[in-house]
This record gives sequence, C-alpha cells and structure tokens, in this order.
Amino acid sequence: MKTLPIIALDFDSIESVNQFLDQFDEPLFVKVGMELFYQTGPQLIESIKARGHDIFLDLKLHDIPNTVGKTMEGLSKLDVDLVNVHAAGGTAMMERALEGIKKHNKDIKIIAVTQLTSTTEAVLQQEQNIQTTIDEAVLNYAQLAKKAGLDGVVCSPLETALLKEHLGTSFLKVTPGIRPADAAVNDQKRVTTPEQAKEMGSTHIVVGRPITQSDDPLASYQKIKESWLS
Ligand code: C5P
Repeated sequence: MKTLPIIALDFDSIESVNQFLDQFDEPLFVKVGMELFYQTGPQLIESIKARGHDIFLDLKLHDIPNTVGKTMEGLSKLDVDLVNVHAAGGTAMMERALEGIKKHNKDIKIIAVTQLTSTTEAVLQQEQNIQTTIDEAVLNYAQLAKKAGLDGVVCSPLETALLKEHLGTSFLKVTPGIRPADAAVNDQKRVTTPEQAKEMGSTHIVVGRPITQSDDPLASYQKIKESWLS
C-alpha cells in the first residue's frame, strides 16, 4: 500500500472521476466513499485500478457480525487495498470483518473508524451516553480494533500521538481533516497541515476538497505530496 496522500474522490459519477483522474500521469492513492460507490459500484473500482491507483474503499460498515463478515467476503473480490468498519460494531463484528476481507485477497488492509470527527464531546456524552473524553473513547475503540487483529484506525490527527504511545507506530493512523496553511477549512472543525499530521504520527492522510475543488488540482496535489513526503 502506497504512503502517498489519499485523495478523497468525493464525486457523484464515473464521468467526473475520470475527468479528475485524467489530469494525473502518476500512480495515486484514492478514496472511494459511500456517495460514489453507491452510485457507481464495482465497475468504478475496476476502472480506477486499471489506471494503476491504490484504492481505499471507505464504506464504514456497521451491522451484525455475520452480515459484515459476508459483505467483506464480497468486497474482497474487488481489487481494493484498504477497507473499513465502525469500531462501535464491537470486537466480534471486527473479527468477522477481518476474516471476510481476507477470503479472496490476503493483502487488503482493514481499519476501524473510532469516533467520527464530527462527533463532539457533548454528543458523545449526551447522545451516545459515553461518559469519557473523546480521547479516551477513541483510545478504547482503537485498542479493541487492535485486539480484533485490525491493521489500524481512522482518527483525527490530533489523536495520533496518544494512539502512537499506546499502540505503536506500525498500527495505521489514517487521518482526514488535513488543510495546507493557505487552504479553506470548509466544514472541518479541527484541522492540521500535512507537515503537522506527519509530525504527530499519522501514517496516511486523506485530503479531499483542497485538491478536488482546486483551480489547479495537479499543482495542489504536488504541493501537498511534497510537504507530506518531505
Ligand atoms: O474535503 P475534505 O478534505 O474535508 O475530505 C475529507 C474526506 O474524509 C471526506 O471524504 C470525508 O467524508 C472523510 N472523512 C472525514 N472525517 C472522518 C472520516 C472521513 O472527513 N472522520
């Protein structure tokens, strides 16, 4: 799996994805989320792979263990590199997900969403009724993910230092909420630059609008890639 910045392909059709990818003449690491996958399906995965790109299929599965396990078995027939589930589904669900995703392809990595970055401490405590800090809740879910045998988690870059301390450097920490210093923050609440994310311990960064909505996507990507890999 490449260590390149993961570009979030938040588009709604194969045509827009192709138009975007046509600008790049190098192997990329891209993220296909549920908006795109539900409208384009496995056909899109094949066409992105044919271009030689790595794919993070970000479907955030969360259901009973059997359903998630069987779904992962199906997804393991697709040529993807990284998939995910919600840690809130529990250890048994994560274990079945892992078993399922390895069925047809042992190389696919699987990570867990801890707490969504849109969840505030007030929502955590008042709606989910989890009476801890966000950091403690994230660490708990990350520890469960590791215990279940998963490869890592999706988290905020601001939580990676804590996770690194408790779970080590090789446990994947895939972090959205990345903004170059000169880019618009949009609806992200807590953001870091690629350099800061790297310093804090992200193993992979996910970047969407600063590249996809840029006037010059190629130049914006190159700049982010340089600061991430430097
Ligand atoms: O455009 P932007 O860089 O904000 O895109 C970030 C991407 O990461 C989006 O696809 C968003 O759905 C995803 N994401 C996120 N926060 C999470 C999990 C996923 O922003 N906690």
